[in-house]
Amino acid sequence: MAFIHLDIRYLYTLLICTVFDCTLSSNTEIKVNPPQNFEIVDPGYLGYLYLQWQPPLSMDNFKECKVEYELKYRNIDSENWKTIITKNLHYKDGFDLNKGIEAKIQALLPGQCTNGSEVQSSWSEATYWIPIQGNLETKIQDMDCIYYNWQYLLCSWKPGLSVQFDTNYNLFYWYEGMNHALQCSEYIKANGKNIGCRFPYLESSDYKDFYICVNGSSDSKPIRSSYFIFQLQNLVKPLPPDYLSITVKNSGKINLKWSMPRGPIPVQCLNYEVEFTEDDTTWMTTTVENEMSIMRQSNESQQVCFIVRSKVNIYCSDDGIWSEWSDEKCWTGDMWKKTLIHFIVPIGLISLFILSTTFLLMYKQKALLKMLFDSKKEVFSHQEILC
Ligand SMILES: *[C@@H]1O[C@H](CO)[C@@H](O)[C@H](O)[C@H]1NC(C)=O
Ligand SMILES: *[C@@H]1O[C@H](CO)[C@@H](O)[C@H](O)[C@H]1NC(C)=O
Ligand SMILES: *[C@@H]1O[C@H](CO)[C@@H](O)[C@H](O)[C@H]1NC(C)=O
Repeated sequence: MAFIHLDIRYLYTLLICTVFDCTLSSNTEIKVNPPQNFEIVDPGYLGYLYLQWQPPLSMDNFKECKVEYELKYRNIDSENWKTIITKNLHYKDGFDLNKGIEAKIQALLPGQCTNGSEVQSSWSEATYWIPIQGNLETKIQDMDCIYYNWQYLLCSWKPGLSVQFDTNYNLFYWYEGMNHALQCSEYIKANGKNIGCRFPYLESSDYKDFYICVNGSSDSKPIRSSYFIFQLQNLVKPLPPDYLSITVKNSGKINLKWSMPRGPIPVQCLNYEVEFTEDDTTWMTTTVENEMSIMRQSNESQQVCFIVRSKVNIYCSDDGIWSEWSDEKCWTGDMWKKTLIHFIVPIGLISLFILSTTFLLMYKQKALLKMLFDSKKEVFSHQEILC
């Protein structure tokens, strides 16, 4: 195949030269063979593949010349090729193993080696497919991974649509720095089946591709594997902010403040959404600070409340998940205090009155009892004397 390509190129050049009367006759003789033994190697890292090749044959004429390679690769069906120019004999990258991979490579002789323009070889091609087994309906569904507080990674899934009861799934993961892919060590189970995984502490796993494969087994039929590539910093769901405080100044200025629970998320990595309510009006705003000042809409407003939630910001990740909302913090205005006084003072006075009356009554009762008892005792002692 490659030689046919070369021949066609040669004929083509000849044709051009006959038409245009080539004076650079030497140029037509310079050819370069394609790289040899081009292959895609799967080291078992669940999507991280090695593309490797050997130099072209008969490079002796270009000893002083460093040949370059133009490498193109993509997932089959994707629109664009990724293009790499390199002098190395290998290249590594991450791929979506749910699909096939195709790659091609050509050798390039730079212009300074050929006394003219760059010379290209024909392409060497390679493809790679994970052996496909099971139909699509046996794949897990709704894979959901959340990196809680940038600390605890948890993934969960639902079984495939058409699987037998004996089907069970297993999760494997790998990222750069690990010697080999590991199986989940703490599955989340439902009815004895794995439906999720609690990952252990993942050292130096941020800002790199994190590869996951969920495959399965069943006695009745093969199960299709699913592959995922995440960047963990994009899956972070922070804890909700706490220690909310609200101060309302006489000038009408309102200060809102909150803090984040302890954890590994750097403060400069967070932004916040604040939902603010003044009496019946509610509005939202976002900020990267953990406090804000606003003006009261009206001096007559009686209740000012806010809640806040947080998310990792664009300076630290491409994406994130909003935390839960914090508990609500409120400030109640003077009118409310007045109402409070109107209620509490009368209630207090009434309670005091009731209390003192009860005491008085009880005291009186006691005195009465004492009187009775004393008189009885007197009678008794009289009898004693009689005996
Ligand atoms: C390029 O030109 C130089 C000087 O003209 C010559 O010595 C050399 O052999 C040429 N190289 C090739 C590859 O034709
Ligand atoms: C699932 O994937 C792991 C990791 O690639 C592999 O070792 C294991 O044999 C696979 N299991 C099945 C049932 O395909
Ligand atoms: C509220 O009262 C303060 C002080 O009396 C005044 O400066 C401010 O303009 C008032 N604001 C509104 C919205 O009425």
